[in-house]
Amino acid sequence: MQAEEIERLIRISKERPLLPETYVPWQEQPKANDLYLPEKLTSLEGTPLYHTLTPQQKTDLGRHEAVQVLYSYGWGEALFCVFMTRYLLQLPPDGPEHRFLIREIIEEYRHQEMFSQAIIQLNGEALPPTKMHQFIGKFSTNYLPADFLFMGSLAVELITDMYGNYSRRAPEIYVVLRKVFELHNIEEGRHIHFTKGLLQTYTAKAGYIRKTLYSFVILMNIYFVRTMYVRKEIYERIGINNADAVFKEATRNYRSKFTQNCLGHIIEFVDSWGGFNLLTRWAWRWLLHAKV
Ligand SMILES: [Fe+2]
Ligand SMILES: [Fe+2]
Repeated sequence: MQAEEIERLIRISKERPLLPETYVPWQEQPKANDLYLPEKLTSLEGTPLYHTLTPQQKTDLGRHEAVQVLYSYGWGEALFCVFMTRYLLQLPPDGPEHRFLIREIIEEYRHQEMFSQAIIQLNGEALPPTKMHQFIGKFSTNYLPADFLFMGSLAVELITDMYGNYSRRAPEIYVVLRKVFELHNIEEGRHIHFTKGLLQTYTAKAGYIRKTLYSFVILMNIYFVRTMYVRKEIYERIGINNADAVFKEATRNYRSKFTQNCLGHIIEFVDSWGGFNLLTRWAWRWLLHAKV
């Protein structure tokens, strides 16, 4: 990416900062019919069981799953900030990359605070990541090379973007959440633009093996994020019997919905530099049911 383009992104970030404190109308309480997650993004919509839930159970399902979404983003962004801070130390401090990453870190910390505030506003009780998620998250943050981490972060940002787009455009969603997602969507748009530019230099010179590895890193990141939302405890909380069986059904249901709703841009991106090949296609089909 050209230095002028990065300078432009830095300027926008400085001249038009979006502060969660003033951008989000925190004083607004939810209205009686407000939802917290568009129904099509909840794990049970689309299953026969969904029709048997009371309106209150459906609202609560969306609220608990929205809390998981907010918490997972905040957690993932915190890990990414750890990596970016370390990465910064190798860059000349007056260069455009360094200065953009500083802006990104500032924005990501504001997002994390905003997500926490939103969880409180939703009376949420976030379920912490599983041991497996914690291990993979910390391991990759500490040991993967920079290009792999930026690949992974871009995959997660593209998913966040899809969630944000659905939520901010749905008038039935509680206005505080719509504004949270709107703010996030605008700033992540710039991060995605920067990261794509940065990764072009890596993908342009990558051979078959490296492209295959990049493709796997993205796939694993998506799989990782997807499995953080659907949690058995949520079904128990909203009073569903046999939560174990429901969890299995929801996982299946959510997998195909996730592929339909959230994968479009990611598949386009991976395809743009030839990330689908003999070694990777089967895994995308198997884990995400992606049509690649
Ligand atoms: Fe963010
Ligand atoms: Fe970001």
